[in-house]
Amino acid sequence: MISEKMQVELNEQVNKEFYSAYMYLAMSAYCNTLGLPGFAHWMRMQYEEESMHVTKMYDYILGQGGEVHLQSIEEPAKEYGTPLEIFQQTLEHEQFITSMIHKLMDLAISERDYATQTFLQWYVTEQVEEEANVNDILAPLRMVGDDKSGLMMIDQKIGGRLAPTPLPAN
Ligand code: FEO
Repeated sequence: MISEKMQVELNEQVNKEFYSAYMYLAMSAYCNTLGLPGFAHWMRMQYEEESMHVTKMYDYILGQGGEVHLQSIEEPAKEYGTPLEIFQQTLEHEQFITSMIHKLMDLAISERDYATQTFLQWYVTEQVEEEANVNDILAPLRMVGDDKSGLMMIDQKIGGRLAPTPLPAN
C-alpha cells in the first residue's frame, strides 16, 4: 500500500517518464532529418527504454492498490541543434530525472515506505547507468567537433545499440 501523497508523486513521475520517451522519439526523428541514422537509432532505443520505465512504475502503482492518473504529455521540441548539443540536452534531461527519482526516494524514506524504497532503488541504479551511457557518447563528440568523418564514425558506433531487454514483471 502507498500513501495518497506517494501515489500523486509516482503519477507525476509516470508523466515525466512519458515525456522522456516522447522527447527521445522527437530527437530520433530530428536525427533522421540530419541524415544521422545511427543517432536516430540510439534515440529510438532510448525511447523504448523510457517506455519500459513508464510501465514499470505504472504496474507498481496498481500493484500497491493505488490509482494511475495519466496526465497530458508536454510537447517536446522539434529541433535540438548539433549532435553535440543533442547529447548535452540528453545529459541535462537525465540529470533532471535523477533529481526527481532522488526526491521520490526522500519521500519514501520520510514515510518509512520500505516497499517503495526498494522499488525506487532500481531507478536510482538505472539513472547512474543512463548518465554514464550519455557521458560515454559526449566524450568522443567533444573530441571530433565538426569533423564529418569523426561524426560518421560515432554514428556507426552508436547505431549498433541493442534493443533494451524486457523487464521482468514487478
Ligand atoms: Fe527514465 Fe531516462 O530516465
